Amino acid sequence: MFALAFLAALAIVDGCLALGGLRYIRPPPSPSVRSLTHRSSLTSIDEKDVINVGNSTSANTTSVSPNAAIIPVVFSPVDQTYYSVISTGNTSFRVALDTGSADLWLVSSACKDQACSVPQYQLGYESSTFIPVNGNQTAFNVSFADTTAASGFVALESIQVSNLTIPQQAFGLVNASNVTFHNDVSGILGLGFPRLSRIFSSLTNGTPFFATMAQRGQLAYPLFGLSLTLNSSGSLTLGAVDGSVVTNLSLIQWNEVVPFAPLLGSAGNASSYLQWTIPLSGIQVNGTILMPQPTYPNVTSNGSLALLDAGTPGIFGPYQDVSRIFASIDGSRLVDSDAGQWVVPCDASETIAFQFGGKTYLLQPTDYLMGPVSGTPDLCLSWPRASLPSSDGIDWQLGSPFLRTVYSIYSFGIDRKEPPMIGLYALRNATAPAQSSDVVQAYFSSASATITTNLPNVLLPTPSSFSISPYTFNASITAPQGKIMASGLATSTYSPVLATSGHPNQTAILTVTPSPTVFTFVVTTNGELVTSISSAPAPSLGQPPGWTSGASRPSAGTPMLMTALAGILTACTLLTRLVL
Ligand SMILES: *[C@@H]1O[C@H](CO)[C@@H](O)[C@H](O)[C@H]1NC(C)=O
Ligand SMILES: *[C@@H]1O[C@H](CO)[C@@H](O)[C@H](O)[C@H]1NC(C)=O
Ligand SMILES: *[C@@H]1O[C@H](CO)[C@@H](O)[C@H](O)[C@H]1NC(C)=O
Ligand SMILES: *[C@@H]1O[C@H](CO)[C@@H](O)[C@H](O)[C@H]1NC(C)=O
Ligand SMILES: *[C@@H]1O[C@H](CO)[C@@H](O)[C@H](O)[C@H]1NC(C)=O
Ligand SMILES: *[C@@H]1O[C@H](CO)[C@@H](O)[C@H](O)[C@H]1NC(C)=O
Ligand SMILES: *[C@@H]1O[C@H](CO)[C@@H](O)[C@H](O)[C@H]1NC(C)=O
Ligand SMILES: *[C@@H]1O[C@H](CO)[C@@H](O)[C@H](O)[C@H]1NC(C)=O
Ligand SMILES: *[C@@H]1O[C@H](CO)[C@@H](O)[C@H](O)[C@H]1NC(C)=O
Ligand SMILES: *[C@@H]1O[C@H](CO)[C@@H](O)[C@H](O)[C@H]1NC(C)=O
Ligand SMILES: *[C@@H]1O[C@H](CO)[C@@H](O)[C@H](O)[C@H]1NC(C)=O
Ligand SMILES: *[C@@H]1O[C@H](CO)[C@@H](O)[C@H](O)[C@H]1NC(C)=O
Repeated sequence: MFALAFLAALAIVDGCLALGGLRYIRPPPSPSVRSLTHRSSLTSIDEKDVINVGNSTSANTTSVSPNAAIIPVVFSPVDQTYYSVISTGNTSFRVALDTGSADLWLVSSACKDQACSVPQYQLGYESSTFIPVNGNQTAFNVSFADTTAASGFVALESIQVSNLTIPQQAFGLVNASNVTFHNDVSGILGLGFPRLSRIFSSLTNGTPFFATMAQRGQLAYPLFGLSLTLNSSGSLTLGAVDGSVVTNLSLIQWNEVVPFAPLLGSAGNASSYLQWTIPLSGIQVNGTILMPQPTYPNVTSNGSLALLDAGTPGIFGPYQDVSRIFASIDGSRLVDSDAGQWVVPCDASETIAFQFGGKTYLLQPTDYLMGPVSGTPDLCLSWPRASLPSSDGIDWQLGSPFLRTVYSIYSFGIDRKEPPMIGLYALRNATAPAQSSDVVQAYFSSASATITTNLPNVLLPTPSSFSISPYTFNASITAPQGKIMASGLATSTYSPVLATSGHPNQTAILTVTPSPTVFTFVVTTNGELVTSISSAPAPSLGQPPGWTSGASRPSAGTPMLMTALAGILTACTLLTRLVL
């Protein structure tokens, strides 16, 4: 039954699945920009992302209960990012999902920059739910570590996600930007904590999207769940988890989110929680444990921290850990020390695993290999990449290659009752042996192209040392004890079910499932009943109802599929961590 729910979308993505093994990699960044933040441009095909009304029978929208929602999450193959559709007022937009930032923002019709050639929020349309803030004079600025930036002003709008409506939500309307989007994506939905939000820092009621719902008690439980796949079968759930993926709630493992010391200066009235970051307890290569070596041991209690970042299409770790991982993989070699990039033989037969709270989350070669290098098809570029130390002390950034191997749940925490937690539900068998080289080969031969890269295939010397930037936070003031905050988390009217003295009552968490969708029964001339799956019309992106004047928007360009097939590497920027 659920299978059907996805078929409509899948058929359309099929053309892209040929690219399954092709991974997109940006050229090595120049040393000055070598970033923790890797923003991806979104590109490609014309998937129908909202699965809804079909022709005759069985039309069904995504199923919801009034205090929860589930919407499709679509994979953008060329740049490896994920987007969903939300509405402001009655206008639909695709937004890239990012757990490493905390602002919702959309490109507006005032933006004439090339990067804004996407469906835009029409400023001339008098949306009845638009509420100006400070005469549109409160600035919205956001910048990312790859140097891209966007700016504009803050306003309030009614946001709809499936059947959930979030009235008076603060968001950014951007009128200048060089943050590249493709594939008709118009902005970013940041799902991080208020302390990370640029809007919240300048506007008291500028609580970010998810925090708003949690603080208003709008959801069955203050959490969201992410299923990320290599097609459009993924989901974002609000207030519940996707029961079509999580079939046994009791197997979810919960990890307390790490609080941060106050910033130098003030964190305002945000809680100490900053990022969806949890302690990384171990790394395994083929079952052999490597203890992570934290960059700032004296401020992280000698532990290593990992950020789960849905906006990052890669896995990045500190040099001292990444080099030891590859030292345990036969035939691996460092091919670009600036990019921290290793290659391994494409028939690698090692697994790489990350451990959280004593549980092991396994990646098979087809999870961590990016794809064969053109000219040297026996060698595959591999995650993780080594990155420079991050001054926020977060050593590891686990993006979509990791998040596809789990179902991840982000519980916001409850004032005075429960700390924020991340639930992980493994989708890989933690004790399985490494895939055979046949499996890996078959996986990559389904890719129609190899990765063109300028990376040299020679062994490079090990970099001697990095200079470590000072730790950003004022470590002399420690984060509050107990980690349960009096304010800034979800409203205390929620009853905690996760922090109940180590015995979470997971069955109290609501599950929702995607609904069957759009299938059409056709009676043919010979009387046979034929079922065909069809896609619903895509929502009209960026088109307010009844709006004509100025409705034309610059073309978002033709699908970028050919670009990908040609293996052309354009600058890959990634949605991810904000520059602190
Ligand atoms: C529904 O199907 C019928 C018969 O196949 C067709 O004539 C009609 O145009 C379809 N309607 C829509 C809205 O697609
Ligand atoms: C639509 O979904 C609801 C809730 O899942 C279900 O009860 C109903 O039978 C579905 N309708 C059709 C026509 O499939
Ligand atoms: C969700 O929205 C659809 C379409 O507007 C509506 O038919 C359905 O009844 C709504 N479901 C709930 C639970 O509100
Ligand atoms: C959205 O559309 C519905 C139906 O056309 C209308 O009743 C409602 O007022 C609209 N909302 C906004 C914010 O324009
Ligand atoms: C603020 O922006 C909205 C949306 O474009 C517009 O309708 C309104 O007139 C603006 N207000 C001011 C004071 O400029
Ligand atoms: C935002 O950026 C604009 C233009 O770059 C600048 O003038 C303004 O001071 C910035 N505002 C904030 C709050 O950073
Ligand atoms: C983007 O714009 C910002 C501010 O305008 C600028 O500093 C930065 O260099 C630009 N980055 C790129 C990649 O163009
Ligand atoms: C889409 O991805 C899901 C999860 O990886 C998988 O179960 C499903 O078979 C995929 N569909 C296609 C058509 O590849
Ligand atoms: C923590 O480590 C940093 C960098 O190694 C060092 O500069 C600092 O003095 C240390 N702080 C304490 C309290 O040991
Ligand atoms: C996991 O892999 C091990 C080793 O191959 C096997 O014995 C076990 O049955 C697998 N478990 C599941 C749930 O598939
Ligand atoms: C890793 O384990 C696989 C079996 O799972 C084995 O074939 C391979 O030789 C091992 N690799 C190393 C380097 O030990
Ligand atoms: C767990 O939650 C369920 C559903 O809310 C409830 O019925 C049950 O009593 C709870 N169990 C415990 C041990 O609290």
